[in-house]
Amino acid sequence: MAATPPRPRVLVAYASKHGHTRLVAERIVAVLRRHSLVAEPVDLGERGANPWPPDYAAVVVAASVHGSRHQKSVVSWARGHATTLGLRPSAFVSVSLTAADDTDEARSATRELIDELADETGWTPDVTLAVAGALQYREYDLPTRVLMRLIARQHGILTDTARDIVFTDWPAVERFAADVAATVAGQPGGVREAPGAGAR
Ligand SMILES: Cc1cc2nc3c(=O)[nH]c(=O)nc-3n(C[C@H](O)[C@H](O)[C@H](O)COP(=O)(O)O)c2cc1C
Repeated sequence: MAATPPRPRVLVAYASKHGHTRLVAERIVAVLRRHSLVAEPVDLGERGANPWPPDYAAVVVAASVHGSRHQKSVVSWARGHATTLGLRPSAFVSVSLTAADDTDEARSATRELIDELADETGWTPDVTLAVAGALQYREYDLPTRVLMRLIARQHGILTDTARDIVFTDWPAVERFAADVAATVAGQPGGVREAPGAGAR
């Protein structure tokens, strides 16, 4: 009797300052698991976290934006693994408040941040998603709460700082994860040939 092939493993690597990108990563993991994949979340912000892309059929990376930059831990990990990331299906999810603005200006700002990550790391993900994040007042210290309330006001959001506000389009996150699952299912083994590998 033929042995059942192992289920493809998908890495979901993320960094999250106040926990919202962790929730996004967990939602992606849940969808991938529903599609019978072995999805492994890894918090790149944890000391010593350094997952190895060749162990996986595909990789999803998620990071949030703070001070107009994605997390350093994600940038340095992706830079260190740019070559092997490029050899398998890969996706990048950028979580920010800018992505909550439904304007061309905001869309181009999030696009620029994602392009910047590719320039900084040398890794160009196959697919990207800009996800609207959250105002997590309950997680902030006082100065951050005051700052974020001010920024929210500038965006026309009058907020009660006693409550968090989530802007995330969860069905869009789930559709994105389902597309990743479909890509992995359509590419047995996941891994592509390295450039020049076939030219022996
Ligand atoms: C101190 C601070 C700075 C932020 N800077 C930006 C920014 O420059 N651009 C932006 O679009 N969102 C910015 N945000 C919003 C975050 O990206 C958003 O709250 C996101 O949901 C945070 O996810 P995390 O909890 O996973 O870090 C900032 C949030 C905080 C608290």
